[in-house]
Amino acid sequence: MTAPGALAGPSTPSLDLGGRTALVTGAAGGIGRACALRLAAAGAKVRAVDRDARGLEELAEQSAGLPGTVEPHVLDLTDLDAAESAAAGTDVLVNNAGLQLVRPIEEFPPDTFHTVLTVMLEAPFRLIRGALPHMYGQGWGRIVNVSSVHGLRASAFKSAYVAAKHGLEGLSKTAALEGAPHGVTSNCVNPAYVRTPLVERQLADQAAAHGIPRERVLTEVLLQDSALKRLIEPHEVAEAVAYLCGPSASFVTGTSLVLDGGWTAH
Ligand SMILES: NC(=O)c1ccc[n+]([C@@H]2O[C@H](COP(=O)([O-])OP(=O)(O)OC[C@H]3O[C@@H](n4cnc5c(N)ncnc54)[C@H](O)[C@@H]3O)[C@@H](O)[C@H]2O)c1
Repeated sequence: MTAPGALAGPSTPSLDLGGRTALVTGAAGGIGRACALRLAAAGAKVRAVDRDARGLEELAEQSAGLPGTVEPHVLDLTDLDAAESAAAGTDVLVNNAGLQLVRPIEEFPPDTFHTVLTVMLEAPFRLIRGALPHMYGQGWGRIVNVSSVHGLRASAFKSAYVAAKHGLEGLSKTAALEGAPHGVTSNCVNPAYVRTPLVERQLADQAAAHGIPRERVLTEVLLQDSALKRLIEPHEVAEAVAYLCGPSASFVTGTSLVLDGGWTAH
């Protein structure tokens, strides 16, 4: 008979980012804030980037007492040169900032399409570009791109968001191929609907676009394709990000970690 535990491998090391610098975009709220706190809990010096100065201040207050630190960095990511400069010297890069507009294509404002693509695809490119010289120089780096189920599947009325997330998937895979010889991994995490302000703001827009009352949006639109009928919490996404930065994931690159309650099982 096999002794209990005989088949168990070495125990999973916990995440220790002491001495590491991590940059998280969109850190003032939602998933980004949860990621910043999770990485600071692992000991990282977190550069928290967002255009929302007040949200960053709240985050810094929340981080008091954690082993790592949170340094607020107020920046609008449409300033692409500033974004690239901000990423210099970082060991871990979490591309998370995003925005959403729900409109049929024929009513979708072209300037908003441009902004969504700038913040959610071009800025990640520039941040990766800014981070790679240091990562390559030391032979270690972790890039985590907060994508979405919408990086893998489309939904009506989200042309800019779906296009940006599909593009981010391609960027992430390319960074994985180029980074592999230099000890740099690049992956996406792909949540379904997360309980954040971005989703709260979407309820009214979705109600209008689908012609149904706001109360029915959650069950009839957002959770329609999810086998698990609940929103995922920001800290659950942050834990997936932490996993991708940790030693257990050193062979994981160029992939997408899907946290979708069974949505894409259809
Ligand atoms: N909430 C969801 O259901 C969900 C699901 C899948 C993926 N995501 C992705 O997760 C990421 C975070 O979303 P969230 O739900 O936490 O949203 P959120 O709106 O709560 O947070 C997004 C953050 O990005 C910041 N931001 C937006 N534009 C910016 C700019 N130009 N410059 C600097 N900062 C800017 C905002 O200020 C905000 O703090 C996004 O990429 C989103 O697409 C969210």
